[in-house]
Amino acid sequence: MDVVRTMPELRKAVAAARAAGRRTGFVPTMGCLHEGHLALIRRAKERCEWVAVSIFVNPTQFGPGEDFGRYPRTLEEDLAGCRAAGASLVFAPDPEDFYPAGASTWVEETAVSQGLCGEFRPGHFRGVATVVAMLLNATQPDVAVFGRKDLQQLAVIRRMVRDLHMPVEIVAHETVREPDGLAMSSRNRYLSAEDRIRARAVPEALAAARAAVASGETAAGPVREAALERLSREPAFRTQYCVVADTASLRPVERVTSGRTIIAVAGHLGATRLIDNCDL
Ligand code: PAF
Repeated sequence: MDVVRTMPELRKAVAAARAAGRRTGFVPTMGCLHEGHLALIRRAKERCEWVAVSIFVNPTQFGPGEDFGRYPRTLEEDLAGCRAAGASLVFAPDPEDFYPAGASTWVEETAVSQGLCGEFRPGHFRGVATVVAMLLNATQPDVAVFGRKDLQQLAVIRRMVRDLHMPVEIVAHETVREPDGLAMSSRNRYLSAEDRIRARAVPEALAAARAAVASGETAAGPVREAALERLSREPAFRTQYCVVADTASLRPVERVTSGRTIIAVAGHLGATRLIDNCDL
C-alpha cells in the first residue's frame, strides 16, 4: 500500500493504476477509522482492483465552536486498518498544502443540503461538497463509496455528481452498528462511559418508529412521536431534530410510504453530536 501526501503524487499514482487497466475505487474519510470505514474500503475493493482512501480532517466542513481542533488524528492506526482492508493507496495530505493559499472557489448544493443537519450546521455541506469534488477530481475513480449513516451527505454528493456530470458511480453502504445498535462513528470515542450507555436511546428511538410502522401506523406524526417518546426517556440526550422524511428529497412527509420514507435523528449527549437514520 502506497502512502502519498501531495496532489501531484496522488495524480501520478492514479494515472499509473489507470494505465495498468485497473478499475479504480475511492473512499474519502477524515481518519479515526472504525469498522464502518473499513467496510466501505472492503466494498470498494469488491468492485475495483485499485482502491484509494483519503484521510483528511477537512477544516471547511466544521463550523465555529465545532470539534475541528479536537477531532481525533490517528494516522498510524488508520494506515494499518487501510492496509488490512485492502486499500492500494492512502492519500493523507498536509492541511497547509491541500487548499491552495487564498482558495476562493466553493461547490454548493442548495436543495437536499437544506433542513436536517443543514439547518444546524450552516456551511457544513458546502465544505463537504467542495472537498469531495476536489478529491473526486484528483482521483477520477470509477466508483466512490459513502456510508448511509451520513444520509444527507450522501444525498448532497449524489446530487453534486449528477448536476456536475461527474463520471463516477456513487455506492451507498449500509450503516455499520455496534452490538447494542449504536451507529459506528469516529465521534463515539468522545462519549463518557455513562453517555455511551445513554446513546442507545438513538437506535432504540429508530426501532420504536419502525415498530410503529410495523404495527400499521402510516401517519408520520405518531411514528415520529414513538421515536421522540424513547428519546424523552433519556433526558441527557438533547434532540436537534427527529424527522420523518422522503428518502430522495429528505423533505418532511405526512405519510410513511414503504421504501420511500426514512426517519432521521440528531442530537447531543454532552458535547458529542450523534446522528442516525433508518428506512421505514
Ligand atoms: O464523511 C466524512 O468523513 C467526510 O464528511 C468526508 C466525506 C470524508 C469529507 O470530508
